[in-house]
Amino acid sequence: MEQRYLERRYFLSATLAAAGLAVFAPRALAAAMDAAMDAAMDDEHAGHDMSGHDMGGAAAKPAAAGLPTAPDGLALLPVSAWPAGAALRALPLLTNTAAAGSFAATLGAAPARPALVQGKVTEVWAYNGTSPGPLIEAREGDTVEIRFRNGLPQPTTVHWHGLPVPADQDGGPHTPVAPGAERIYRFVLPKGCAGTYWYHPHPHDHTPEQIFRGLAGAFIVRAADDPLAGIPEQHLFISDLKLAADASIPLNGADDWMDGREGQFVLINGQREPRISVAGTQRWRIWNACSARYLRISLAGGHMHQVGTDGGLLEAPLAIDELLLAPAERAELIVSGTGEGKLMALRYDRQKMGAAPAEADRLLASVSFTAGKAVALPKSLRRIADLGKPQASKRVVFSETMSMAGGKHQMAFLINGKAFDMHRADWQSRRGEVELWELVNDSHMDHPCHLHGTQFQVVERVRGGKAVREPFRAWRDTVNLRPGETVRVKLRFAHAGLYMAHCHVIEHEAQGMMALVKVV
Ligand code: C2O
Ligand code: CU
Ligand code: CU
Repeated sequence: MEQRYLERRYFLSATLAAAGLAVFAPRALAAAMDAAMDAAMDDEHAGHDMSGHDMGGAAAKPAAAGLPTAPDGLALLPVSAWPAGAALRALPLLTNTAAAGSFAATLGAAPARPALVQGKVTEVWAYNGTSPGPLIEAREGDTVEIRFRNGLPQPTTVHWHGLPVPADQDGGPHTPVAPGAERIYRFVLPKGCAGTYWYHPHPHDHTPEQIFRGLAGAFIVRAADDPLAGIPEQHLFISDLKLAADASIPLNGADDWMDGREGQFVLINGQREPRISVAGTQRWRIWNACSARYLRISLAGGHMHQVGTDGGLLEAPLAIDELLLAPAERAELIVSGTGEGKLMALRYDRQKMGAAPAEADRLLASVSFTAGKAVALPKSLRRIADLGKPQASKRVVFSETMSMAGGKHQMAFLINGKAFDMHRADWQSRRGEVELWELVNDSHMDHPCHLHGTQFQVVERVRGGKAVREPFRAWRDTVNLRPGETVRVKLRFAHAGLYMAHCHVIEHEAQGMMALVKVV
């Protein structure tokens, strides 16, 4: 029990005390609250006036009021219902209809009805009929022009996650595309931005639903002078999907709203536990496109070197045993091995609340290594210049509260003590100026912090009062914040306009853990 939990304004302290639950572990918070609520309600029924709150009919679990929520105890399909073990398919490619120097294509979001499990049809929401959506492959210097059509029953946007695009092309909540409407997204991919990105919806209110129904796709920007260009490449776009017993995609439950949604099916390129063949050496790009699931990647039977992060190559390859990919993070790896291997997501405790099942190791894919062309990795990949001395700074504090607003038991996820308001700019930045942002997790749960419009460099991470310099330079747009951790990053915005900063546990984002920076 840490002091900080006692200090927070948890509204139920009186009720908890009454129920003899003045002290509780963070993990058991929701359970304790349930018990306290039950006790309080029993007492009310017995005629005692507990607290003046009208708790009649209030949900027994902290859930976000007004958000569509599935009932507790919904029956899910067993994981074995989804066929496993097929060879990994490549992501479908979005066809470029433009000449060299440009990328032009059409993209539509609409419902589709694939048979994901035997004998049943699932309505998913898909880009160009597929989930994950088609892979966009463009080059540094390209002008990208994508004509987008919204065939969904809700407003949507296409957000180009991680790309340094102008604010009005960034697909944030300020630029919705109405059902049935079209728009063109147009931006230029600057020199130096080669890397592993993705796209997904980002409308006001509907983002979690549109992502959990299947809308997300990969976006790769290539460089003409890529030092690893000769190495065969494989793409692992990892998402998860929750299916009810009838194979339909259910709404978020109360626990999903609290911890972020994790589907029982973890998929690579839309396949469960596929078989990946590696002849010699391969370059893997891995996306964590899950709404909330953390992926602690390991490769049993193989070797991994990390060569890239969200925003492209590192300065030098880094031998690693495992790699934590928080939601929305990407990595580039060089892999090799012998015989049969296993790509695993090892258990990772992100301090979920409520009655979350214990974390377990999970097989993501089986990997067959065969002999092939071995590649000597270059010692150096590229230079990443230090951004230099910051001229301004920001402090971004992630926190959670619970309240009884409106007589309803609800949680809020906040930045600097406030819930997101799309009409309020929380900070101002100057275009071209180097800034130091201090990202603070003042809560008991992990939160992956993501910034739009630019990549950043992690300078140091402060845990338990100890600052650890980041051992290597890298470009990222998402960084995980452990409970109580502070991460300092340096960045510079290239474009003016409104950009978002938020938690990429997408249910937290939707419940207020998002803020706006106005770049002038
Ligand atoms: Cu992946 Cu605000 O986005
Ligand atoms: Cu983004
Ligand atoms: Cu979060």
